[in-house]
Amino acid sequence: MKTRLRFSLNLLVVVCAFLAPAFLGTSSYGQDNQAPTAAPKIEPQEIEKVEKLIGAANELRDRLQNDPQRPKYHFMPPWAWINDPNGPIFWKGRYHLFYQFNPNAGTWGLMHWGHASSKDLIHWTHHPIALRPTPGGPDRDGIFSGGAVINHGVPTLIYHGVPDGTCIATSEDDDLIHWKKCPQNPVIPVPRADQKVEYGVYDPCAWKRGDTWYALTGWGRNFARPNAPEGDTAFLFKSPDLVHWEYVHPFYQSDRRWTDADEDCAVPDFFPLGKQWALFFASHKRGCQYYLGRYEHDHFYPEQHARLNWSGGQVIAPITMQDDRARRILFTWINEARLEPRHRVVGWAGVMGLPRVLRLPHDNLLRMEPVPEVEALRFNGRQRNKFMLEGNAAVEVGEMRGDCMEIQLEISPLHAQQVGLLVRCSPDGAEQTAIFYDVATKTLRVDGSKASLIAEEPPLVPILPAEERKIRTQAAPLTLADGEPLKLRVFLDRSVVEVFANGRQAVAQRIYPSRPDSLGTRVFSRGGRARVTRLQAWDLAATGSF
Ligand code: FRU
Repeated sequence: MKTRLRFSLNLLVVVCAFLAPAFLGTSSYGQDNQAPTAAPKIEPQEIEKVEKLIGAANELRDRLQNDPQRPKYHFMPPWAWINDPNGPIFWKGRYHLFYQFNPNAGTWGLMHWGHASSKDLIHWTHHPIALRPTPGGPDRDGIFSGGAVINHGVPTLIYHGVPDGTCIATSEDDDLIHWKKCPQNPVIPVPRADQKVEYGVYDPCAWKRGDTWYALTGWGRNFARPNAPEGDTAFLFKSPDLVHWEYVHPFYQSDRRWTDADEDCAVPDFFPLGKQWALFFASHKRGCQYYLGRYEHDHFYPEQHARLNWSGGQVIAPITMQDDRARRILFTWINEARLEPRHRVVGWAGVMGLPRVLRLPHDNLLRMEPVPEVEALRFNGRQRNKFMLEGNAAVEVGEMRGDCMEIQLEISPLHAQQVGLLVRCSPDGAEQTAIFYDVATKTLRVDGSKASLIAEEPPLVPILPAEERKIRTQAAPLTLADGEPLKLRVFLDRSVVEVFANGRQAVAQRIYPSRPDSLGTRVFSRGGRARVTRLQAWDLAATGSF
């Protein structure tokens, strides 16, 4: 009896084991009838190679983490060289940012488009390189700057392929990881030397009006043609489909009141702002600037010009995007102010400025503020009560020391000639950077001439007049109305200082203090009394990879 029972139980186990896969639906794992494939063979040399890579990655990470000049919350790639922001676009709930990237060194080289995405413009995830030069292709010598558009629902990048001209690439995946270059590239070829055309083909931007696509090919100084118009300009093209383009005419007439004869119009970005149209661009000589004006009958008529960079500054390429809340957001590239061998030996160079929200209210004066999302980085807030500053006083604010901070100062100059902050001060004041308003000249100044005791040669900007290459102080126009206090927001991020004033002026400066104790903050007035009505600071959390 016992034996019979055991036999029946055994049989049950065997039957269950046999039938179970059918009940458990093994087929839903997609394995029926499929012999498992062998795992890829592991070669010992491959292990050795990967472990060498890990060793090198550890060494590089340690170097970057121990580099006191490397910014912590401004966007930059994990290593190597970055310049212009390219093709920013809001797509499927996220911000995507591409950028000029030389992945192989801390210096400019064969350009690629790096790629990162973010939910909040502040915390970025790095993605695989989006565009690489195609050997033998029209962009074989580099993927230069350009923009992004949506064409019938398809994200499309438009860029300058070196040496052959404007190229486009499309992506059909929601994450914008994979890009397919158009077989008809270059869609706007660089004219041959014997072609008697006036236009140049360089950094493109594109927009759509009605059913027609328009593109500007920016005017690069290295791509200038003998019969081109003098000064900065951009050339207008139109197309039904982004692939077939026809030249129209120069888009605007440059005016020597505003720009130098040898300034070009690189990285143009054209878009509506308030009741006007804006053309943001960079000249290779003087960096970031913009026009505001009218756009009529396929022509742009600039009515105002202003700069976002002045002699002594390194803010170069601007580009904007509109997000899902219809905000116009500006990205910029802040170059280093050190020499190239220094970039190479530290293994990185370049950062993006904090994204700025642009507005043009009824008075047609541009407003700029860092995106409010940056406030999520604040911790350890502290503030002082209101106080008076006697003439020629500099008050140490002991609790506001740091090199990764936001400082807000509201100060009324009253009888003072200059009012502002000293940041990154060493205790003896030998190193310091001054940020102040100068009443007589109506300028916002950032003076980095005493920022560091290490005298590094100023960077070589060959087309700047020799005397300007040594300048370490920027002076940006700012007019305070009668009784209006100076309202500063200062962002310190190690070698980056970004200053926003009264929501309508902004100056960025690179500084490289050499002393680890150059962390002090002072508030000062020169030439008379001033009243401080607000003084507040926060530390800002790091977002970078290292
Ligand atoms: C501006 C620029 C662009 C060009 C790119 C090359 O910084 O010179 O004109 O497309 O950088 O990296």
